[in-house]
Amino acid sequence: MKRVVIFGATSAIAQAVARRYAVDGARFFLAARNAGRLDAVAADLRTRGASAVEVWVGDLADCPGHAALVDLAGRALQGVDCALLAYGTLPDQKTCEEDAAEALRHIGTNYSSAVSLLTQLATLMCAQAYGTIGVIGSVAGDRGRQSNYLYGSAKAGLAVFVQGLRHRLWSRGVRVVLIKPGFVDTPMTAAFPKHGPLWASPDRVAGDIVRALGSGQATLYTPWFWRGIMLVIRLIPDFIFRRIRL
Ligand SMILES: NC(=O)c1ccc[n+]([C@@H]2O[C@H](COP(=O)([O-])OP(=O)(O)OC[C@H]3O[C@@H](n4cnc5c(N)ncnc54)[C@H](OP(=O)(O)O)[C@@H]3O)[C@@H](O)[C@H]2O)c1
Repeated sequence: MKRVVIFGATSAIAQAVARRYAVDGARFFLAARNAGRLDAVAADLRTRGASAVEVWVGDLADCPGHAALVDLAGRALQGVDCALLAYGTLPDQKTCEEDAAEALRHIGTNYSSAVSLLTQLATLMCAQAYGTIGVIGSVAGDRGRQSNYLYGSAKAGLAVFVQGLRHRLWSRGVRVVLIKPGFVDTPMTAAFPKHGPLWASPDRVAGDIVRALGSGQATLYTPWFWRGIMLVIRLIPDFIFRRIRL
């Protein structure tokens, strides 16, 4: 029976991942900021077979609370087999170009608070000397584009942080998996037109995530074809790239 901690448990992707663990009787510690929706997620997981679900309600961008939160999660589950960082915000790029405070607020949620939480989590995982940490980044972190580079820069910073953390924790028996979804049909992307083969459901992405957390692979692009797409995007020379409207 897996003991699973999810930060940002009301995320559509996180819920789809949690459902897959629930059918195998996992025990959960779920953190999110919306109490009503978190209770609904917890109830759903119990119905699907979770053996225990504990919840914590609060703002995950509030870094001073992270040490106590991670300690609580570790004690509630008596050890953590798998931890998933799934919360995040998709800022309006145009607003962030004119409002530095708004830009920094999103960097705070998507990068700084993840660094804080992962630092606390690493201490817990090193002490127990086992377990897997999954961090949801994004393909947007692979190359800065005019349409979403504020968000992309946070995910890019997170990717390098996770890479270094993986390097450090490997010899301590802890695996760290960076998850890079492409376009996923969730509330975060509600404003986007969602047709075409590039869009995936949270459930499809969740299947890939559960497999990657099980194998402890370094980086997951999900669905798989994003690895090739982003390879091409990264290889386009700047003198061509700057003329493309992306
Ligand atoms: N959807 C995509 O196309 C896509 C692509 C690449 C990467 N991702 C990443 O996937 C992850 C999950 O997103 P999603 O697609 O599942 O979207 P989602 O359903 O909108 O989930 C985002 C979650 O983050 C939570 N959150 C944001 N700020 C928070 C804070 N300060 N404290 C606590 N919770 C906070 C939201 O809570 P509230 O509902 O209470 O606001 C929500 O549950 C994110 O890291 C996102 O960047 C998504």
